[in-house]
Amino acid sequence: MEPYCRIYMSSAKGKPVVARAPGRVNLIGDHTDYTGGLVLPMAIDRYTTVAGQALDGAIRLTSEQMHEPLALNLPVADAANVMPAWGRYVAGVANEMGCTVGIEGSVTTTIPIGAGLSSSAALEVATALALGSTLSVTELAQLCRRAEHVATGVPCGIMDQLTSAAGVDGHALLIDCHTLDIEPIALPNNMQVVVQWVAARTLVGSAYADRVAQCAQAEKEIGPLRLASVADTNQIADAVVRARALHVVSENERVRQAAECLQAGDVQGFGLLMNESHESLRSNFAVSTEQMDNAVKQAQALPGVYGARMTGGGFGGCMVMVADSDARLPENDNTWRVRAVGGAAIVS
Ligand code: GLA
Repeated sequence: MEPYCRIYMSSAKGKPVVARAPGRVNLIGDHTDYTGGLVLPMAIDRYTTVAGQALDGAIRLTSEQMHEPLALNLPVADAANVMPAWGRYVAGVANEMGCTVGIEGSVTTTIPIGAGLSSSAALEVATALALGSTLSVTELAQLCRRAEHVATGVPCGIMDQLTSAAGVDGHALLIDCHTLDIEPIALPNNMQVVVQWVAARTLVGSAYADRVAQCAQAEKEIGPLRLASVADTNQIADAVVRARALHVVSENERVRQAAECLQAGDVQGFGLLMNESHESLRSNFAVSTEQMDNAVKQAQALPGVYGARMTGGGFGGCMVMVADSDARLPENDNTWRVRAVGGAAIVS
């Protein structure tokens, strides 16, 4: 049976709720989710927490990180134009849920904002739980994805919201973004996962939507990319669209192989696939930056590092490295070891 997120009845006025949702790092499989492909992310031990009590007809939230508080009357007429801008995610979720009872309280996060570690998805998922969502993890993720589309106009896939909702302690998640089947894959003890912040980024106004459109164009010519072979992509007339499709098709295959490597404890093989993934995101999909390529190259050369790549949507953001568990990698404000954790929940 599909797991259900724990329930908070928002009608139980006066009773405080604390909902917490993790960020995520994607180990491999980027720009595959919105064509129904494969991804292999994990929820990480960095969280967004929404805490408060039910409030009739309104949402009032302060944010430790974003300074400007949010005050909204429900229902919200236009989530995309709510100010301050961080409140758009909250408004989008409240609208999708059709809430008439809101919340009064606060938002805090330990997920770096604008780093490509899904701080926005975590805010959406934590908000939905705090507002009393009783949906299954899959439905919750779908609702939050729709909220993000409305709030930001970015036509994102399902990976971030689903990982935040469905994370499993000590496991990466092999997600088929077509069926939404999730297979937890245990992370071997002999590897560590390290994230390094490289540059701030936002997908709003980026070329993310162009990439989604280019993949749709490729699918018009050769059918669903999740079913296509590398040979099929050769039939695509336009060289740019052909390169985008080649990335997606080859990335799906790398994810399949990477999951097998993890299951076999082959961390070295896993790292090589990560390196190949970065190269394809750089050259075929053109979502990396020079700064990111340099950081990745340096990381790949470190003793004990099996593989390194950009992670998430790109155009800046973070790099992820997989290294031997004994490797001594720098730990500082920009570089930290992450642990795979369970998904979003009401914590009190
Ligand atoms: C962003 C999107 C995801 C996914 C990644 C790239 O994080 O929100 O849906 O497309 O980029 O893999």
